[in-house]
Amino acid sequence: MSKELLLGQSSPRPRSPGHNRPLVFAGCLLAILYFAWPYRSNAHKVGTITWGLACDRPHQECGSIIVPKDYLDLAAGTATIAISRIRATWPKQGTVFMNPGGPGGPGTWSPTLRAAALVGGQWDLVGFDPRGIHRTTPQVKCFPNSDHGLFQANTVLERGLTVPSIRNLSDPAVEAALEVQIRELTALRKAEAEMCTRNVGEELKYVGTTTVVRDIAFMADVLEGKGSKINLYAGSYGSIIGTYLVNMLPERAGRVVIDGIVDPVRWSNEPMYKWPLWLLASTEKTYRFFLETCAEAGPTRCPISYELGEDHKVLEARFESFFDKLALEPLPVTSSQAFRPGLLTSGAARGLLLGLLGQPPQWQFAAQAFAEAFSGNGTLLYNQLVAPDATSESPFHDLVNSAVICADVPSTTAADIPSSAELAEEHMRVLREVSPHFGAVYQDAGCEYWPTSGRGPERFAGPWNATLETPMLIVSNTMDPISPGQAGLRINQEMGNSTRLIIQDGPGHCASSLPTPCTRQLITEYFAGTVPANGTTCVASLDYFPSQNGSVPVELDDAQMWGLIPGRRRRT
Ligand SMILES: *[C@@H]1O[C@H](CO)[C@@H](O)[C@H](O)[C@H]1NC(C)=O
Ligand SMILES: *[C@@H]1O[C@H](CO)[C@@H](O)[C@H](O)[C@H]1NC(C)=O
Ligand SMILES: *[C@@H]1O[C@H](CO)[C@@H](O)[C@H](O)[C@H]1NC(C)=O
Ligand SMILES: *[C@@H]1O[C@H](CO)[C@@H](O)[C@H](O)[C@H]1NC(C)=O
Ligand SMILES: *[C@@H]1O[C@H](CO)[C@@H](O)[C@H](O)[C@H]1NC(C)=O
Repeated sequence: MSKELLLGQSSPRPRSPGHNRPLVFAGCLLAILYFAWPYRSNAHKVGTITWGLACDRPHQECGSIIVPKDYLDLAAGTATIAISRIRATWPKQGTVFMNPGGPGGPGTWSPTLRAAALVGGQWDLVGFDPRGIHRTTPQVKCFPNSDHGLFQANTVLERGLTVPSIRNLSDPAVEAALEVQIRELTALRKAEAEMCTRNVGEELKYVGTTTVVRDIAFMADVLEGKGSKINLYAGSYGSIIGTYLVNMLPERAGRVVIDGIVDPVRWSNEPMYKWPLWLLASTEKTYRFFLETCAEAGPTRCPISYELGEDHKVLEARFESFFDKLALEPLPVTSSQAFRPGLLTSGAARGLLLGLLGQPPQWQFAAQAFAEAFSGNGTLLYNQLVAPDATSESPFHDLVNSAVICADVPSTTAADIPSSAELAEEHMRVLREVSPHFGAVYQDAGCEYWPTSGRGPERFAGPWNATLETPMLIVSNTMDPISPGQAGLRINQEMGNSTRLIIQDGPGHCASSLPTPCTRQLITEYFAGTVPANGTTCVASLDYFPSQNGSVPVELDDAQMWGLIPGRRRRT
């Protein structure tokens, strides 16, 4: 995978080259009509809702809401937010908004019948594509006449950062090898920033989380009445939206549930290249649990173990031998379901493993894919990197993940730009102190090269201690390799009795990746008005490596709520 930071974002499907050209043309045409028209037609009036538009997902009705592009400067024009809805089936109590994370996940995909059942029939469930994303306009399409996927194909963006070996991290050759790869990454990031600046320009200022929170409040005003309470169910990066929301607008906060928590203090205050140090805090613990569970299952159910009851360290060493071998000699893959042949590199394989660790129902598949790769066939694994999937990536946007992150981070000056050596050093620190196996997986987005970085209309960065009428529900797994439980605890400690921390004792990125009846019940009861005691713990249980393929007893629809495997990504 390209090591784009994906906190819950969904996996992509290949798209045909040039599919976006007619849209670009239509966009220009509309703009001309708009400026030539003597009156502002009603269609451009903020607050206008249109229903009856096409939906990407079943069981929904879809539409759009026109909002101010900039809430602090109403003369800046409008944005059009794409929305989707599944209606309440009981007497309606209000609206619950959803966000799937990413950043960059199309939120219009989030409302499903299962999600509606989870929040209970008394709520309209409303998904929306956040700023810059999918069908919401303006869109972040930095490569309007070509394909960002082609741009990144076989570059370090797709190959990942390869650590020659983690066996001796004091060997200066390791850091030197990373630095060489990061120089390539930096050049690619500069090119991306230039493309976004040229083709999206000032619009990039309006895609930050702060603006998204204003949009949610505006939509609540329109849908439920001015000043109405705002309810939200959001996961992964969506927890950032939730935490911003309740702290920016505490008096508006209604029932808010966040799952798979990302630390908002660090998110809003630190440059992105420093994030892996805390994001990976639970990753090694999860990896070890995966290896132990696999070893217990034995070779017939988990083919990367070679005999029943092996020590997890033996499995770990097996993986490291494989990664070291790939570092010297990547595996060519010529018959995958991807539209082109490619390479399975050590960096990409580690990234795929991290992504799969976040999805326990996929662990048996992960074992099979790695077992085949160990024996020289990288097809199954490579398919995860570039293959089509059940969910397709939006054809309407490209660099939206970077765009949202770069809008949220503090603004920088030339003096703040980290050198390739500094970036390599930071990776070494994470490898040594936090995660030797995955410490080089995330790649910096290069926000320092985006002139709009941190320069949106407003940038919220705390305080994080608002007092709420209804406590916010924080759901954290004990072994979340992508968004560690310590972030949930931090919000709980900052906000005290204005939150309740629910702990799901088990692995996976977000509780929804491995839903337990207990956690589901607490969420359903919360939306029905019962706030659980702080510290309530639900124990996850799953036969991670069942004896018969495909018998994973998990409702996978939940796992899809916050998108698919975070490690999988965009085809090229
Ligand atoms: C690790 O590398 C350093 C520097 O090259 C060397 O001094 C040290 O002996 C190596 N350690 C091991 C265990 O190989
Ligand atoms: C490699 O693995 C894929 C997927 O499992 C399979 O379809 C293909 O036949 C394998 N290729 C070889 C040469 O074994
Ligand atoms: C909230 O935090 C801010 C900044 O840390 C502090 O100044 C303020 O006193 C705190 N408010 C409460 C109610 O604790
Ligand atoms: C939080 O709630 C507990 C139990 O109701 C109470 O004892 C405690 O004083 C409260 N703490 C704050 C800071 O309000
Ligand atoms: C909530 O529960 C967690 C887990 O038991 C605990 O660590 C935390 O201190 C509690 N928070 C409050 C505000 O009591």
